[in-house]
Order: sequence, then structure tokens, then C-alpha cells
Amino acid sequence: MSSVLKVTSVTQKFGGLKALSDINMHIEKGEIVGIIGPNGAGKTTLFNIITGIYNPTEGKVELGGEDITGQKPHVIARKGFARTFQNIRLFSKMSALDNVIVGMHGRTSVNLVDAIFHTPKKRREEKACGARAEELLRLMDLWEDRYALASSLPYGKQRRLEIARALATQPKLLLLDEPAAGMNEQETEDLLHMVQQLKELGETVLLIEHDMKFVMNVCERLYVLNYGELLAEGTPAEVRGNPKVIEAYLGKEDD
Ligand SMILES: Nc1ncnc2c1ncn2[C@@H]1O[C@H](COP(=O)(O)OP(=O)(O)OP(=O)(O)O)[C@@H](O)[C@H]1O
Ligand SMILES: [Mg+2]
Repeated sequence: MSSVLKVTSVTQKFGGLKALSDINMHIEKGEIVGIIGPNGAGKTTLFNIITGIYNPTEGKVELGGEDITGQKPHVIARKGFARTFQNIRLFSKMSALDNVIVGMHGRTSVNLVDAIFHTPKKRREEKACGARAEELLRLMDLWEDRYALASSLPYGKQRRLEIARALATQPKLLLLDEPAAGMNEQETEDLLHMVQQLKELGETVLLIEHDMKFVMNVCERLYVLNYGELLAEGTPAEVRGNPKVIEAYLGKEDD
């Protein structure tokens, strides 16, 4: 079976700067994989290439065996990627529930006629959407907050709501860019449990994260980027014991 994601020899140049250099990676169904590396290592750039925001200077990106290199972000999203961003992007004046339902838009087969005349198909879809939204909000422990405006939720919950919304599209691959960033210890702990639940549900996740405890606890495999190069890959234990990684990254505890 083809990998959910396969990145082959990807290089990204911005003018004279080589942000990524000959990157190879793959993610299999049901895996939770992490990308770590110091600031400016190229982590977000790699996400932007995977999701079609950048067309790589060289190399190939495949989703489920299909070459999607250079396709537009909305086209790629429809093929099965969902992501969250380093900074929060919610519909702040909408409820938590509506934020999730909006995430489902484009995933239903209801057309305009169905919608206007409230056909049985439309009612069935609505019920299915409602059930899925409830499932996701419960999963992210936000069900009690479903009618709260997104902007009124505390930071940790807003970040979880973003994940719920991304999951609403039923992605083949969920990409999380620093999901624990800015969270306090308790919020990080809560998020850790939720991502572990995603794993049990069989979701496939690629996440960027600086919080080492989080990464080491939740990811089965890690890729380490440094100055745009793939420095190491392997299980958290392998990566933690890799002298190159210790020197470049883990050694600098004050980072
Ligand atoms: N659109 C762009 N144009 C020019 N340079 C860019 C662009 N995007 C990123 N870069 C540069 O590419 C390098 C990698 O940046 P990137 O944002 O991918 O790093 P990162 O690993 O996500 O860092 P952080 O941990 O700080 O989020 C940096 O030197 C950055 O300045
Ligand atoms: Mg980044």
C-alpha cells in the first residue's frame, strides 16, 4: 500500500537561501510523526510545501500515491489534508460548534436544491454533520463549550477547537504546526491525552512541536531538521540518543 504521505528529494530555495535541502520522508496510515528542529530549521516551510502553499524548487510530494506537487492549496485540501497554523485562525464571532460545522463544508454532497427545499437528503446530511461535530467536540473536551464564541474560550481550548475543526474534514493526514505552543503545563498535558486518543482512533498525524516532552510522549517516529537539512530520523529513543541531534538541538536546553 502507498504511504499516506511521501516526500521525495524536496528542496526549497528563497532567493539565495536554501530553506530545505533534499528532504525525504514518509508517513504510514495511523502513525503519529513529529518534526522537530531549532527555529528557522525549515519545519513550517515543509508544511507549506506539503499543503501546496509553496511549489518546491525541486522534488515531489505524494498523497496516497498520487503526485500532488505544486497543486493549489484548496485542491490539495480537498484531496485529504487538514492543518492548523502556528497562530490561531478561528472564526472568532462564531460558536465552537459552528466552527466545527464550517469545517465540514465542502465535504457533504448536498446541493443548492437540497438545501433550499430541505430535502430528506439535506436532513440526513445535517444529522450526520451534527453527530460528527458532537463526536469531535467531545473528543477535544469542548462539548460543554459548544455554544461559546470561539474568541471567548481560553487559549488552550481555542487550540483544541482548531484541531476539531481540522478533523471535521475527515482528513487522510492532519498536520499540526506547534499545537502546544503558548500552552501552560496543564493545557499541554490535556492536549497530549487528546492526541493520544487520535492515535487510538486511527488518525494519521504529522506535527511540528518544540515541546520535547510532548513530542517524545506522543510521536512514534521523529524527523529532525537543522538548517534545512534532515539531521536524523527514528524513534524518540533513537533520536534522543543521536549525538548529532544532541549537539545541534537537544544539547541547547536553553533554546
Ligand atoms: N516565504 C519566505 N520567503 C523567504 N524566506 C522564508 C520564507 N519562509 C521561510 N523563510 C526562511 O526559511 C527558513 C525556514 O523557516 P521556517 O519558518 O520553515 O522555520 P521553522 O523551522 O518553522 O522555524 P520556527 O521554529 O521558528 O517556526 C528561515 O530562514 C526563514 O526565514
Ligand atoms: Mg515554524
